[in-house]
Amino acid sequence: MRVIIFGATGLLGKPLLREWKRDEVIGLGSKDADIRDASQVLSAVEPTRPDWIVAAAAYTDVDGCESHRDLAVAVNTQGAVNIAQAAKKIGSRLLFVSTDYVFDGLGNAPYEANHPRAPRNVYGQSKAQAEEKLAEILPSCCIVRTSWLFGVGGKCFPDTILKLAANRSEIDVVDDQRGSPTHAPDLARAIIQLCHAGATGIVHATNTGDCTWFEFAREIIHDAGLTTLVRPTTSDKFVRPAARPKYSVLSPESLQNYGIAMPSWQDATRAYLAERMTADSLRKPAVEPGKS
Ligand SMILES: NC(=O)c1ccc[n+]([C@@H]2O[C@H](COP(=O)([O-])OP(=O)(O)OC[C@H]3O[C@@H](n4cnc5c(N)ncnc54)[C@H](OP(=O)(O)O)[C@@H]3O)[C@@H](O)[C@H]2O)c1
Repeated sequence: MRVIIFGATGLLGKPLLREWKRDEVIGLGSKDADIRDASQVLSAVEPTRPDWIVAAAAYTDVDGCESHRDLAVAVNTQGAVNIAQAAKKIGSRLLFVSTDYVFDGLGNAPYEANHPRAPRNVYGQSKAQAEEKLAEILPSCCIVRTSWLFGVGGKCFPDTILKLAANRSEIDVVDDQRGSPTHAPDLARAIIQLCHAGATGIVHATNTGDCTWFEFAREIIHDAGLTTLVRPTTSDKFVRPAARPKYSVLSPESLQNYGIAMPSWQDATRAYLAERMTADSLRKPAVEPGKS
C-alpha cells in the first residue's frame, strides 16, 4: 500500500511515520506542500497516486484560531477540502483527523459518532465545516475524531505540567472539563489499522476512560515520582479566548466496530513518561571515558 501523510511534522504525524512500517509512506510538512493551495496539494499527491491519504495537518492553536479566523478556515476547512478534491481526482482513499471540539460539550454521556455537531469555538467550527464538506466530496472518506492529544517531542499538556512542576511546589489545574487524553502513538496505531481495514464514516479514537485536566495532571505528577501538589480549580480562574467544552468524552463504539481497542489513558500516561525519559537520556551528551 502507498500512503501520503499531510501534517507529518506534527505531534500525531511523527509517530504515524514512525509506526507505519509495512507500507510505502511519504510524510509531508507545510514546507513540502501548503494545504491552503489546491495546486500544491495536487502536485504533492499526483505523482504517487497513494492508496490512502491521511490528513493530519491543521492549525491547532485553539485560542489563536479565535483571533485568526481566516487562517483557521483556510487551513482547517479549505485545506481539508483541497486534500479531498485531490484524493477524489486521483482515486485515493482519505482519512481526515478531526476533533472532540465539534461538539458543544454540554452532554454528560460519551458522544457517539452520529451525535449532531455544535462547535463552540472557531477551531471546532473550522473542523466541523471540513467534516461536512468532506462527506459531500468523498462520501467514502473516514473521519477520525480524537481528543486531548499528547506525545513526546511536541507541545502538549503533560509536557507543560512537568515543566511547571520543575519550578513550583504547587500547581492549580482546572477540574471542571472532562475528556479523554490520547497518546499520539496509540492514535497512530489505530489510524494505521483503520486504513488497513478500509474504514469509512466517522470513527472516535481516544485512549479509554476519562478524567478532568486536574486528574490528568495528578496522574502525571504521581507517575513521574514528583511531589508537587496539584490543586483543583475552575475554568473561570483561567479565562481563555476560546470556549472549551465542559464534557467531550467520545464513545469508543465506532472504533470497537473495527475490532480496535486502545489502552487506558493511565497506561498511555506511563508509556509517555517512559518514552520521554528515553528521549531525555538520548539527548544528554555522553560522558567522555576517563573524565567522569
Ligand atoms: N493536538 C490536539 O490536542 C488535538 C486534539 C484533537 C484533534 N486534533 C487533530 O489532530 C490532528 C493532528 O494534530 P497535531 O496536534 O499533530 O498538530 P500539530 O502538532 O499542531 O501539527 C500540525 C501539522 O500541520 C501542519 N500544517 C499546519 N499548517 C499547514 C499548512 N498550511 N499546510 C500544510 N501543513 C500544515 C504542520 O506542518 P509544519 O510543522 O511543517 O508547519 C504540522 O505537521 C489535527 O487534525 C488536529 O486538528 C489535535
